[in-house]
Amino acid sequence: MNLADKPTVFSGAQPTGQLTLGNYLGALQNWVAMQEEYNCLFCVVDLHALTVRQDPQALREQIYDLAAVYLACGIDPAKSTIFVQSQVPAHAELAWILSTFTQMGELERMTQYKDKSQRHRTNINAGLFTYPTLMAADILLYGTHKVPVGADQKQHLELSRDVATRFNGAFKPIFQVPDPLIASSGSARVKDLQEPSKKMSKSAESDLAKVMLLDEPKTILKKFKKAVTDSQGVIAYDEEAQPGVANLLNIWCAATNNSLENALEHFSHNMYGKLKVESGEAVNAILAPVQERYRDIIADRGELIKILDNGAEVARQRAEEMMVKVVDVLGLPPRRSL
Ligand code: TYM
Repeated sequence: MNLADKPTVFSGAQPTGQLTLGNYLGALQNWVAMQEEYNCLFCVVDLHALTVRQDPQALREQIYDLAAVYLACGIDPAKSTIFVQSQVPAHAELAWILSTFTQMGELERMTQYKDKSQRHRTNINAGLFTYPTLMAADILLYGTHKVPVGADQKQHLELSRDVATRFNGAFKPIFQVPDPLIASSGSARVKDLQEPSKKMSKSAESDLAKVMLLDEPKTILKKFKKAVTDSQGVIAYDEEAQPGVANLLNIWCAATNNSLENALEHFSHNMYGKLKVESGEAVNAILAPVQERYRDIIADRGELIKILDNGAEVARQRAEEMMVKVVDVLGLPPRRSL
């Protein structure tokens, strides 16, 4: 099959500090698996990161670092396009246009906006509010068919679909209406190790709550050993009554590629200690090769920049093809080559 015949996949992560095990199991691991079958674009969404105040020097390092992590996880620049969002100006341009097709009420309903505006009360900026229109632009620019994300992004994806449908209906169908591809149930929402009712998030205050992709193996094991469980003393899968145990079972399944059924059989008649240690060990086994590749990739900044420059070039061309259609249907003057 020719590359152009393959359906398109687009996804991204924010360069706001190291990735967590949640990002890896909920998103990146699936991206890697999609590279053969799909024409994939994987983006470091640095413009999204600006909705929270960032230190400029640290941000630039985090952007390169995240690109290096993509490569270390197995994203292959020979198969997929890896690029930085701000290097393709059409993302911001289309976001503006799509914001005029998005209702305030739709944005007000976004749970991530409600959450973040609670946490950053002194900086509830307009970008935080219109964030989902930028995300819709990221996706719609490339005629994306599938968007592999964790469960927390589902609501944003629904908005992207609604905006695409509304725009298409107002003019003609130039946007592909994208489908979310949410990771299998266990890894779609990896939970916080200390407060297992919440998702594992980079922004959790306690270090013990989150497993970072580049944590040392002994640190990872320690975090798992200290994971919060319950006092029931039985290993069973019940997200409501035993959220900590359910989370460890999910992680073990995702890391060892086992079904929940196998997990329950494997740990039957065991204590929580064994579940904690084996989950930590399984995570270390999948992360060790990623960490080793990361160390090589990050040491060669020149090569990394070359990959990102190539990726941005490919993405700019594809995005421009869509912008030609967008300005045409809107009645703006035709694009001149940039
Ligand atoms: P971000 O940077 O918060 O997270 C990147 C990806 O990781 C997934 N994820 C999780 N999955 C399972 N369990 C968890 N605990 C967990 N935490 C995070 C997220 O669902 C996501 O897939 N707005 C997006 C980035 C973005 C994007 C896009 C994604 C911008 N434009 C276009 C797809 C398409 C975000 O903040 O992801």
